[in-house]
Amino acid sequence: MNIFKKFYCRSFQTMFKLMLPFMPYREPKILNTNDEVSKLFLTNGIKCVLLVTDGGISKLGLYNTLVENLQNNNIKCEIYDKTVPNPTIDNIEEALQLYKDKDCQAIIAFGGGSSMDCAKMVGARVANPKKSVEQMRGLLKVKGKMPLLVAVPTTAGTGSETTLAAVITNAETKDKYAINAFPLIPKYALLDENLTLGLPPHITSTTGMDALTHAVEAYIGHSTTPKTRKCALEASKLIFENLETAYVHGDNKEARKNMLRAAYLAGVAFTKSYVGYVHAIAHSLGGEYRVPHGLANAVILPYMLKAYGKSAEGKLKKMAVYCGIVDKNIDKHLAAQKFIAQIEKMNKKMDIPNKIPEIREEDVLKLAKHADKEGNPLYPVPKEMNVKELENIYRQIMK
Ligand SMILES: NC(=O)c1ccc[n+]([C@@H]2O[C@H](COP(=O)([O-])OP(=O)(O)OC[C@H]3O[C@@H](n4cnc5c(N)ncnc54)[C@H](O)[C@@H]3O)[C@@H](O)[C@H]2O)c1
Ligand SMILES: [Zn+2]
Repeated sequence: MNIFKKFYCRSFQTMFKLMLPFMPYREPKILNTNDEVSKLFLTNGIKCVLLVTDGGISKLGLYNTLVENLQNNNIKCEIYDKTVPNPTIDNIEEALQLYKDKDCQAIIAFGGGSSMDCAKMVGARVANPKKSVEQMRGLLKVKGKMPLLVAVPTTAGTGSETTLAAVITNAETKDKYAINAFPLIPKYALLDENLTLGLPPHITSTTGMDALTHAVEAYIGHSTTPKTRKCALEASKLIFENLETAYVHGDNKEARKNMLRAAYLAGVAFTKSYVGYVHAIAHSLGGEYRVPHGLANAVILPYMLKAYGKSAEGKLKKMAVYCGIVDKNIDKHLAAQKFIAQIEKMNKKMDIPNKIPEIREEDVLKLAKHADKEGNPLYPVPKEMNVKELENIYRQIMK
């Protein structure tokens, strides 16, 4: 990247970093039982809620005990279960219509990142009836008071239950983008590892690698705080220690609980300290080819860490030492290499490929421009890259 653009990007990021202490970041209040959810609605006078989820979760009946609990407390629960992976504006509008038709007063975001992000944007549309989803794209465009929202993650990956983001796809233009605003941070989150016990191995591994990517990208970026560094380190260690167990033994409650905690901590880290080019590229692939988010991140992460080279070595060494991958006396270049090799090894063990064959040469420039638009100047990455440099990464991960 040329020196002038680099200066512009770094100045923009520094401005946001200096503003960090004055921004209204918060974390959701954690609930542990369905009873607590019902009680919360009762004390807020809520008689009807909209539960936003997807068809897979509906088939499994994962929300049945929660819905029964609500009904036993005379709280009606309407269900929208048509959310697709990489949720679309149409999903949001359909769910919003149901919310209005049934006079709902609160929202339960039940599922993986797709369902949670769809639910968050239904809330944003309720609070901003005159603004379209597209008009809320970017930074701080969601205003007003959202309806009460309880996030219930059923994958251990995105951390959406604690972040200020919702990632949405325009199905017509295939444009996938983030909407970042403080009202989107859920007020409450129910963390229940029992909901994740039946998560199939491939979804367990890829969503878990998404959480690792959040932790790594947040930690190696330039806008960290002591708290986000601590959360990112703790999340990474938990993932290295538990993800493979959760993948092989899905019913291991301890591993599932630790993964849910890791995904949450990684969410706390990146909501303040941002992600990086791994995510910018993954979003372009999710929009264009519907490549699942976690899978894309898992494949891209090692390539991008290698491309960052020296600029990330010191921080990768700190992560590697904290996670018990290397001894602290080792040289930082070697430590970074071992950290990256550990990620590759974990991917291989969990049958995650190292290429994304959907990428076509004729799309590369367009995709790289999309990643450049998302990442620059916002993401405080260790090494700034321009469109040409990003194109190189796409070419490395093509078949
Ligand atoms: N808002 C944020 O901060 C944030 C952060 C990262 C990613 N995202 C977004 O989140 C989306 C990805 O979310 P995801 O990776 O959690 O996947 P997902 O929500 O798309 O779900 C993937 C699949 O897993 C199934 N599933 C979910 N929970 C299950 C369970 N307990 N048992 C069995 N099957 C289950 C679903 O039915 C679905 O088929 C992407 O759109 C991504 O861009 C958002
Ligand atoms: Zn992610």
